[in-house]
Amino acid sequence: MDTQISYILAIESSCDDTACAVLKNDKVLSNVVAGQEIHEKYGGVVPELASRAHQSHIVPVITQALKQAGIKKEQLNAISFTRGPGLMGSLLVGTSFAKSLALALNIPLIDVHHMHGHILAHFIDNDGQEKPSFPFLAITISGGHTQIVKVADYHDMEVIGTTQDDAIGEAFDKSGKLLGLGYPAGPQIDKLATSGDPLKFPFPIPKAPDLNYSFSGFKTAVLYFVQREVKKQPDFITNNLNDICASIQHTLIKILFQKIEKAVQQTGIKTVAIGGGVSANSGIRSQLNSYKEKGWNVFIPPFEYTTDNAAMIGISAYHKYKKGYSA
Ligand code: KG4
Ligand code: ZN
Repeated sequence: MDTQISYILAIESSCDDTACAVLKNDKVLSNVVAGQEIHEKYGGVVPELASRAHQSHIVPVITQALKQAGIKKEQLNAISFTRGPGLMGSLLVGTSFAKSLALALNIPLIDVHHMHGHILAHFIDNDGQEKPSFPFLAITISGGHTQIVKVADYHDMEVIGTTQDDAIGEAFDKSGKLLGLGYPAGPQIDKLATSGDPLKFPFPIPKAPDLNYSFSGFKTAVLYFVQREVKKQPDFITNNLNDICASIQHTLIKILFQKIEKAVQQTGIKTVAIGGGVSANSGIRSQLNSYKEKGWNVFIPPFEYTTDNAAMIGISAYHKYKKGYSA
């Protein structure tokens, strides 16, 4: 099947982005994402509003993805969709659409685990750039996950570390909310941190066993710190915003890499690939790159494949399709 050409349409609707991509084997022909600004004023994703927005976005997004790819739906070989995890109402919109389309076109339907998508995004053809070789460690960091995954093959993955409470993306977003930043705060903290002092405000490093993580204590530490300082100086946040953001980011990076280092030591696997929305963070990207000096082989996805997108679902589906899988 390797020499065959297959066109796969992928739909991702697990949270607050309605996304559709068309792939020709491992090449992305189109990658359309419609975000949902409606959640900004609520400081987080409102599930009911998310599913309603998916309902109105899905047809235009799919139409645009096909148009940009220059492909007619009759040329498609398979339809893929995010099976989960995610918000049930949001997932249902993408799932129902994918099922109906596959049925109408009489072609295979391929379900994909959202986090596998974030990991396999590294296998999207990127102008012939090197791809991770198996086995490697995938670090999935998003608004809902923080995991260390041992990847033995495209669909042979073992979670060897995970968060026991909040995800790292939540730690960014909730800390940012305490500082009055809009949702999602992660990208704003990243930006503000570039001109701040990362060592100005030391925050504690939460303890978690083995290769696991804990972020809920961190968020509480930021809350108490901000409350205490604002009491002393009402303009504290405005006067120190860059330094606070740099200190938050510095601590989260420290927490993240402590366990990544431990995982590399324990497994002896020195190939490390990051994925998920938080892997867009500039501090995390440069920290990972610095480990090249220690002989690590590191992989960082292009920005368009870090936050939720359908191309990552399409590449995962492609590797299932090659094996003859159908849902
Ligand atoms: O993967 P994703 O788009 O959705 C989930 O599956 O959760 O990840 C969204 C998360 C949010 O928490 C957002 O704040 C975070 O990714 N994020 C960032 C950055 N860009 C997105 N966090 C830190 N720095 C960034 N540059
Ligand atoms: Zn995601």
